[in-house]
Amino acid sequence: MTTPSQPVTAMTPSRAHVAPRRLTFVLLGVVTAALGACRSESGEAKHQEPAQKAAAAPVPAQEPPTELHGVGGIEGEQAAYDQSRQPAKFIAALGLSQGQHVADVGAGLGYFTPRLSEAVGPTGQVVATDINDEALALLRKRMSERKNVVVRKVSPDDPGLEPDKYDLILLSEVDHFFSDRVDYLNRLRPALTPTGRIAVTHLRAMRPPLVAAAQAAGYAITSEYNELPEHYLLFLQPAASR
Ligand SMILES: C[S@@+](CC[C@H](N)C(=O)[O-])C[C@H]1O[C@@H](n2cnc3c(N)ncnc32)[C@H](O)[C@@H]1O
Repeated sequence: MTTPSQPVTAMTPSRAHVAPRRLTFVLLGVVTAALGACRSESGEAKHQEPAQKAAAAPVPAQEPPTELHGVGGIEGEQAAYDQSRQPAKFIAALGLSQGQHVADVGAGLGYFTPRLSEAVGPTGQVVATDINDEALALLRKRMSERKNVVVRKVSPDDPGLEPDKYDLILLSEVDHFFSDRVDYLNRLRPALTPTGRIAVTHLRAMRPPLVAAAQAAGYAITSEYNELPEHYLLFLQPAASR
């Protein structure tokens, strides 16, 4: 298993053997579906004509299971979705310790929030942010018994995180929503502790724009985890000392 401290590596050997045409088809399917799930939040996808529906890419196994679209899922609701996201493996790959402070930016329904809460324990804290009132209300309800989780409404262009506090800032399937990825990553920097990291995960086809933005914002990719079925997971830290 690759750990967060290991260097950046390319795609795992098993994936490198996938036939290029099949890989292209699969990537097109998952990106179309991911962006479709986001569009449905604003209602655009509801007006699709039948002919367009027939031509649409196949629905992937990892489509979020909830009725409220574009806000992620809840672990345990749909086996295929859990299979895609691998929450136990994912949280282990973050390398968190008890007592740490974590921000779950764009937490949605909080797919990873309970496991983050357990990873940092009673002496740590998870601040789960979102811009969507409906998602925030559901998340608040789900997290009401967890004393180390704070659910916070933020505005789209401001992370709303305290300076010098976070050991890890998680951006899980959220960066495609930012109006300006470079600006948003720059706004996250002050919230990190001197050794703090930003973890970014999304479908593999969504990796290039994030990597370009991270470089433009002056971050280095310090490690990458390649053992998830459909998602990349990489870790960023400011390239120069602050
Ligand atoms: C696809 S969901 C991902 C939810 C969860 N992180 C996951 O991995 O399942 C994206 C979430 O990001 C939220 N979001 C979009 N833009 C945001 C922003 N600028 N700041 C914070 N949250 C944002 C959306 O409301 C939505 O709940």
